[in-house]
Amino acid sequence: MSEVGIDGVEIRTGKLKLDLAETFAPEKGEDPEKYTKGLGLHASSFPDAYEDIVTMGANAAHRLLERKDLALDDIGRIDVATESAFDRSKPVSTYVAGCLEQVNDGDLHHANKGERKFACVSGTQAVDDAFNWIRAGRNRGRAALVIATDTALYARDDPGEATQGAGAVAMLIDENPDVVAFGEPQGYGSADETDFLKPNQQFPSVDGKRSMQVYLARMREALEDFEEAGGDTHPENFALVPFHTPFPGMVRKAAGLGYRHCIRGTEIEDELAAEIGRQPRPEAYDDEDEYFEAIKEYTDKLTDTERYQEWYERTVAPTLSISREVGNWYTGSVHVARVAGLLEAYETGRDLTGQQLLVGSYGSGAQAEMHAEYIQPGWESEIEQLDITEQLDDRKSLTFAEYESIHDVHNHEETTDVEPLTAPDSEFVFDGWGRMGERKYTFVE
Ligand code: HMG
Repeated sequence: MSEVGIDGVEIRTGKLKLDLAETFAPEKGEDPEKYTKGLGLHASSFPDAYEDIVTMGANAAHRLLERKDLALDDIGRIDVATESAFDRSKPVSTYVAGCLEQVNDGDLHHANKGERKFACVSGTQAVDDAFNWIRAGRNRGRAALVIATDTALYARDDPGEATQGAGAVAMLIDENPDVVAFGEPQGYGSADETDFLKPNQQFPSVDGKRSMQVYLARMREALEDFEEAGGDTHPENFALVPFHTPFPGMVRKAAGLGYRHCIRGTEIEDELAAEIGRQPRPEAYDDEDEYFEAIKEYTDKLTDTERYQEWYERTVAPTLSISREVGNWYTGSVHVARVAGLLEAYETGRDLTGQQLLVGSYGSGAQAEMHAEYIQPGWESEIEQLDITEQLDDRKSLTFAEYESIHDVHNHEETTDVEPLTAPDSEFVFDGWGRMGERKYTFVE
């Protein structure tokens, strides 16, 4: 059976930037380091008035098809994962297909289109659907286009406001992929949770502190289930560990806990025993609280060791470099983390071909998923062609007043009308509302 995985990837950020330390913190009366050190975030990406989930997704997909020299009938499936949709019936993938048909020969009439929903984990679920479709032999030689796109905005003054972001990741899922091939074992951690939801509203209702606990609990379950399914979790066997990144500080917490879990009973625990002791075992404690306290103390000592810090800097820190500058992209976030890690590896000359990634996805409500991926020989030339660094540098910095005016545009109210702050150039743009309440798009040369 041939390998199936990601054959190409493109990222599109919103064109506006809110600097958290310089612009956001003074308005909120907060120490800038709460954002830069505490949350690990420097800036958020925002879409301009003519950008939204469709334009960002279509612009990423358009560049991907051009770059891979693909015609529309090479695509047999388009799935969009989003939690920022503006229609409960017509999927965003139909709008994206309509955009692509405006500028490419042929059509996408024989491509199966859909929309995936499960908070941020739906991006990974859509990738998984594409994998299964190809593995089932139903693709007739065609590839799947998966687009994870969100305007991840919170209500003004919500504690989540500092973690906002907006952007899209377009991925081509195909046989004999150039970037990564997916491994077979998968782990899930899933439970009915009320931590972050959007009950028929664009800006979420969030219990932020609880959402962090749920993230850690479900990720742990998914890791255990992945091990149960035969997945390897030895930390030294992974070149990079991309996780869903609502903000880098969340991944920093998860990484310490995950590393402790994964080194239990390995030579790493043995080698560190002289320095920090062995991990507490539950059978040694009558009281559960005492056990948890002992585990916490051990984890604090573990994350202070040189061995852990070297591992974290090599496998986790590189995956956070884009997220730090753009904020949370919800469905796209873990896919941005993968690209960020590979990009830094490419720029620093690491030879990763054949090595493994451990990918941890998460969506509130709540579900985590864990699987491994294998880096393919074509990864360097794919990553080399990304223009995300230029896009980030070209963003227009917002004043706080501009931020206030642009924020509510993305609540998708027909009555909100704000002048754009940048000029579109060779891209799809939102072009007003149609007679049935649909959104219209056009390509601007
Ligand atoms: P908050 O209450 O404003 O922040 O909200 P805080 O007071 O907890 O401070 C944040 C961190 O900064 C803390 O670090 C502080 O100590 C530190 P910690 O103790 O946790 O390690 N700090 C400082 N550090 C240095 N210098 C300073 C300073 N001041 C404070 N001066 C919260 C934080 C995350 C709750 C908020 O941003 C929020 O509600 N975010 C939205 C929810 C979220 O992102 N949850 C993450 C897990 S759920 C998830 O990932 C799913 C999601 O993507 C949605 C989906 O699936 O669709 C969100």
